[in-house]
Amino acid sequence: MREMTLQSNFFFFSIIIFTSYVCTVLAVVTVGAHDEVSNVPINNRGDFPTGFVFGAGSSAYQIEGAAFEDGRKPSIWDTFTHAGKMVDKGTGDVTSDQYHHYKEDVKLMYEMGLDAYRFSISWSRLIPDGRGAVNPKGLTYYNNLINELVSYGIEPHVTLCHNDNPQFLQDEYGGYLRTNEDFAEYADVCFKEFGDRVKNWITFNEPNIQTFTGNDLGIFPPGRCSYPFGRNCSMGNSTTEPYLGAHNLLLAHAAAVKLYRDKYQGTQRGQIGITILSYWVEPRTKSLKDIAAAQRMLDFHLGWFLDPLVYGDYPATMKKIVGSRLPLLTENDSKLVKGSYDFIGLNHYLVFYVEDLPRTSTEYGSDYILDMSVMQSFSKSARVKGGPSLPINSWALQKLLEYIRMKYKNPAVSVHENGYPTFGGNWSDAQTMNDTGRIEFLQSYIGSVLLAMRSGSDVRGYFVWSFMDCFELIDGYRSHYGLYAVDFNDASRKRYPRRSAHWFSSFLGKIKRRDEVSSYLSSE
Ligand SMILES: *[C@@H]1O[C@H](CO)[C@@H](O)[C@H](O)[C@H]1NC(C)=O
Ligand SMILES: *[C@@H]1O[C@H](CO)[C@@H](O)[C@H](O)[C@H]1NC(C)=O
Ligand SMILES: *[C@@H]1O[C@H](CO)[C@@H](O)[C@H](O)[C@H]1NC(C)=O
Ligand SMILES: *[C@@H]1O[C@H](CO)[C@@H](O)[C@H](O)[C@H]1NC(C)=O
Ligand SMILES: *[C@@H]1O[C@H](CO)[C@@H](O)[C@H](O)[C@H]1NC(C)=O
Repeated sequence: MREMTLQSNFFFFSIIIFTSYVCTVLAVVTVGAHDEVSNVPINNRGDFPTGFVFGAGSSAYQIEGAAFEDGRKPSIWDTFTHAGKMVDKGTGDVTSDQYHHYKEDVKLMYEMGLDAYRFSISWSRLIPDGRGAVNPKGLTYYNNLINELVSYGIEPHVTLCHNDNPQFLQDEYGGYLRTNEDFAEYADVCFKEFGDRVKNWITFNEPNIQTFTGNDLGIFPPGRCSYPFGRNCSMGNSTTEPYLGAHNLLLAHAAAVKLYRDKYQGTQRGQIGITILSYWVEPRTKSLKDIAAAQRMLDFHLGWFLDPLVYGDYPATMKKIVGSRLPLLTENDSKLVKGSYDFIGLNHYLVFYVEDLPRTSTEYGSDYILDMSVMQSFSKSARVKGGPSLPINSWALQKLLEYIRMKYKNPAVSVHENGYPTFGGNWSDAQTMNDTGRIEFLQSYIGSVLLAMRSGSDVRGYFVWSFMDCFELIDGYRSHYGLYAVDFNDASRKRYPRRSAHWFSSFLGKIKRRDEVSSYLSSE
């Protein structure tokens, strides 16, 4: 039935590509002026072309649990959470325990109708010391998970490192503060062992956030920063490390891509890319200074990675402002990095409104934030806007996609994360189970993806964050993004479908879970 819908919509789709162009351009111009919801009601996937992939995601440290089982050694996230650094003192020790529930979870994904599941491999589970010996039990786990997915016809989309670098390498040489070959060797093991079944590889998740949060602010692992920047760290250098770390991540990414292309892609025929956190940025006023500030933030945030990947060098704004603290992309490195992607993954949640903030350097120099020199806020009307959850600004995703299409040569992109948190309470609170806000959010953002595609963006997939509740990197267990709720007070971590799970399932054309969801909701 899904096939028929797709076929008949294909012609419709081709026709509207042309006619919607004018409307879309108008929409982009006008929606920018208001915080409004994209106005395309999307109730089923039939409007999307055949081959468009709908999925949901997770990451190893956030969902697996079994943190000290079967030979796994710590990642920098284990160290960080065990130092009590989360707001709720939470850890990923057990979390949703997917390690022991993967069969049940894959069945739920199948019943939901997912085309794909995006997950990550825990580097320190597969290769506990970061390099050298492979842990056979780690290998078995990922083979089992991948086989289970494939047996249900669900594509595995695999991130090699979702911010959870091995602690061993951090201790030995500062992790990504040094250029190293360990990532490519780890990637080699993954391609060799899993590449016959995994056709979509992501090297790093949000490298543009990793070193900014981990080495400038120190609020994420490895928790490094220097006075007066960041969170009172005991070690680090906020003026240099964010740029150095990002540079090394970029080179490690490019080396892994080269390896995949040289050694595996010809026979395995997969795709490889990288996933960037992608805010949209709007100037808060029409003043030239604020417009320039917005562009500067886009350069620091997206251009930091996308400019080297697409054009082979850092953005001119960054080179000018950061000067010698920005590592040089040598001619050879530039060649290696340029074009080192088959697709770009985008994680999108927020829009920032920015004002120019005249740059002030201190006697301690300047960090990534001072370098960017913008004043950020979540809303146009107020500098700080609290709220129960994320605002629905789906026009911002459309603008982001159009910006990337125009500025970065229309790369193949996949929205790898987009989702809506509910806060507080236990899993069973009706407010989190009857999550109509999440449904409205997803519907609206999926609609904005469609609008961007109609004006020419080459979007290949959309993944809801997250498939089920898990340990969240910012909030621990205080916020939940899952289509499925998990009862974290229950030793068996029972899973329960939220209303949004039912909605996504019917959107995808599989409605098997309907009875279970309605009976849960009506018993409330
Ligand atoms: C920063 O660290 C010092 C020494 O460890 C401590 O005395 C001080 O209270 C900390 N400041 C903050 C704001 O955490
Ligand atoms: C950070 O590194 C720069 C360049 O090496 C150096 O000049 C500066 O003193 C360092 N800052 C700290 C806090 O170590
Ligand atoms: C750059 O690459 C070329 C060709 O592979 C090599 O001959 C040259 O030594 C490299 N240059 C540097 C500075 O590494
Ligand atoms: C969640 O439920 C547990 C027991 O099931 C209870 O101890 C706890 O107080 C509840 N938390 C909240 C925030 O309601
Ligand atoms: C779910 O929430 C919506 C709106 O918030 C409300 O209209 C509906 O009655 C609720 N359904 C249940 C089963 O609580």
